[in-house]
Amino acid sequence: MKNRVDVLIGAQWGDEGKGKVVDVMGANVDVFVRYQGGANAGHTVIVGGEKIVFHLLPSGMLYPGKLCVIGNGVVVEPEQFLKEIEELRERGQDRARLVISPSAHVVMPYHKILDKAQEAFRGKGHMIGTTGRGIGPCYVDKYARSGLRVEDLLDGDRLREKLTMILEEKNRILTKLYNEKPLALDEILAPALEWGKALVPYVGDTVELLHEAIKDDKHVLLEGAQATLLDIDHGTYPYVTSSSTSAAGGFTGTGVPVSRVDRVIAVVKAYATRVGEGPMPTEDKGEIGEFLRKQGGEFGATTGRPRRCGWLDMVAVRYSVRLNGSDVIALTKLDVLTGLDEIKVCTAYDLNGAKTTHFNGSSYVLEECRPIYETLPGWSEDISNCTTFESLPEKAQNYVRYIEKHAGAPVKVIGVGADRNQTINRGLY
Ligand code: IMP
Repeated sequence: MKNRVDVLIGAQWGDEGKGKVVDVMGANVDVFVRYQGGANAGHTVIVGGEKIVFHLLPSGMLYPGKLCVIGNGVVVEPEQFLKEIEELRERGQDRARLVISPSAHVVMPYHKILDKAQEAFRGKGHMIGTTGRGIGPCYVDKYARSGLRVEDLLDGDRLREKLTMILEEKNRILTKLYNEKPLALDEILAPALEWGKALVPYVGDTVELLHEAIKDDKHVLLEGAQATLLDIDHGTYPYVTSSSTSAAGGFTGTGVPVSRVDRVIAVVKAYATRVGEGPMPTEDKGEIGEFLRKQGGEFGATTGRPRRCGWLDMVAVRYSVRLNGSDVIALTKLDVLTGLDEIKVCTAYDLNGAKTTHFNGSSYVLEECRPIYETLPGWSEDISNCTTFESLPEKAQNYVRYIEKHAGAPVKVIGVGADRNQTINRGLY
């Protein structure tokens, strides 16, 4: 297969199983890159029954000798970063080469305090349901040009100077606005200096590395975190995360030129889930939602929160496929639907009495949308050992074809179980 640059994104509200798709593609990938978000992500990879959850590190870390990059667009929580490396080391699985951009912003302890304080301030009815990992406040500082970047951690004097100024402002906000305790400089500076020392071996010019890799015809995979409907611009604002989760974020978040991208892979889960607040037209608070949550193990990888579940929303998926210019779909967790007599798919919305197939990113509009379903027959056969499309029951094949038709993109990989081996490859890798 030709070497290329792929961007992989989530087409729904996150937790589509992106980590697993990256992992199964892994043997053919040379460079794995995270480009946005931070430790709010939870990318689960299961190999040989062993479960590994990455929050910050690219999902390719399990492949020996590969290059893993944390791009400038990511917000890095150093403690989490070092913890994940240490966990891999303990398992003897730290075999990839890891490079982090000096321009990536650092999630500091005050960002996490502010994240929680702001959520409490918003209160019931207005809270976003964040993961509490300090993501929003860190990106705010980035755009306000008052953030700390990885490069700042590497120079003790500069760090002290910058942190002194930052804390003066943060402490006023923490104490006067949110009734929180002020933070002492040393309490923040001492660990930050340690993080800086520990990060030194990993910091490098990621833009240059990626350009060289592309020039050398390497297969580069930009690995999106969260998902399109949580995109800061194109998602269901304000119930979104604070980064560009769609494919477009892959360019600013890495320095890879737009013109170099060959494929955009949309990861679509066979049904819908959402964590946190915000509209979700197909949410099912009854039996079906419960079935999907239980069968699919739909509990947050980062926060443990039960995910909201419902039928597949094709209006939303179509919007994502179009917005990202997705050439191909990776369909995940098809096995979760096994055992249902019938499967519903939302193909349109009823918006104040009128039928629409248009997905409007406005939360106000989406709140008013009621799903219009089509019903497909389900299957009862165990599909978790199927390795080819043809070996799937006819009704499962039809469900896949139905998705392809309505999304307008071919399904090139199908997940039929959590393990790396439980995957049907139809030419994705
Ligand atoms: P934040 O990213 O922690 O600021 O949270 C903002 C919204 O994005 C909340 O609704 C979170 O539940 C959601 N979110 C953030 N990261 C993920 C993820 O990796 N999967 C699913 N939802 C996420």
